[in-house]
Amino acid sequence: MLKKRVLVTGGAGFIGSHLVRRLVADGAEVVVIDDLSMGDASKVDPGAQLMALDVRSMETSRVIKDFKPDVVFHLAAQINLRRSLQQPLEDASINILGSVNVIQSLVESAEDISKVKFIFSSTGGAIYGDVDVLPTPETVEPNPLSPYGVAKFSVEKYLYYYHVVHGLPYVSLRYSNVYGPGQSTKGEAGVVAIFLEKMLSGETPIINGDGTQTRDFVFVEDVVEANIKAAYANAVGVFNIGTGKESSVLDIFEHLKQYVGKDFPKVHGPAIPGELQRSCLDYSKAREVLGWEPKVDLAEGLRITTEAFAHELR
Ligand SMILES: NC(=O)c1ccc[n+]([C@@H]2O[C@H](COP(=O)([O-])OP(=O)(O)OC[C@H]3O[C@@H](n4cnc5c(N)ncnc54)[C@H](O)[C@@H]3O)[C@@H](O)[C@H]2O)c1
Repeated sequence: MLKKRVLVTGGAGFIGSHLVRRLVADGAEVVVIDDLSMGDASKVDPGAQLMALDVRSMETSRVIKDFKPDVVFHLAAQINLRRSLQQPLEDASINILGSVNVIQSLVESAEDISKVKFIFSSTGGAIYGDVDVLPTPETVEPNPLSPYGVAKFSVEKYLYYYHVVHGLPYVSLRYSNVYGPGQSTKGEAGVVAIFLEKMLSGETPIINGDGTQTRDFVFVEDVVEANIKAAYANAVGVFNIGTGKESSVLDIFEHLKQYVGKDFPKVHGPAIPGELQRSCLDYSKAREVLGWEPKVDLAEGLRITTEAFAHELR
């Protein structure tokens, strides 16, 4: 059954705006909290109510207590991994303290805590660190190598505490590299958006390093579906959300060239220091427990994304 009162933090962002559109279409009453630092108010479905607030603020806490949501999708975050290396305090302030403010406010607002649900957008790309097991299952111990990854892991620990001690049902979704229409070029995993923006303006994108580094690219609508399944399934815990398939940056470059319909030379820049060489998630647990699996393969997803970016530029 559809939970009616839904709060989406970060709902003016890339993944959040797709999720809000889907929730409104499904008939939910949706409140969005987003400080618009990265998000765009015009991307928020008009059927939702947007509150331009910082997740760390007292006002956010007040909105949650007044609205009394049945389900909270917490996506608001400082999402730039490299920025977290330079500004770990700011990252921890938004990504840890902001999250604790939202969770604590939900716990205080709930009349029956067992009836609400908290869905957290975590990361599979940055939480595990350098691992030998690929695709990586949730049983591999996270050893994040960035403040961003440490913050996401900390919030998962808070959620475990709130579950065991207060009875809060939660799901943490560890996404791989999400891509799709509407992605900004400034994010954690923006290679598709960055390449497309350049190629569609006729410029040659720069490939960091030799381009053989791999990632697990998952389409945004599949991530939206994972959130919906997580909200309504009778499940608690952490789940990888990816495709189990590795694609290199060079693979992405070749695909996009084809969809943009133009040839570009391979121009390489320096490798990013500390960047993982390989990353790929085992999503068997999400398939078995949430009944989720990715539906859109890479070729189809990149084709849809290219068309959407081209349309935006027209
Ligand atoms: N895009 C990916 O590949 C990816 C991968 C793993 C995890 N994630 C996680 O998914 C979530 C959504 O990511 P996205 O790619 O849509 O990023 P995004 O930057 O488009 O969305 C994040 C939103 O949070 C808002 N925000 C930032 N700080 C805020 C604050 N202090 N108060 C209120 N709002 C604030 C921004 O304005 C933005 O709209 C994030 O939690 C991110 O860490 C994304």
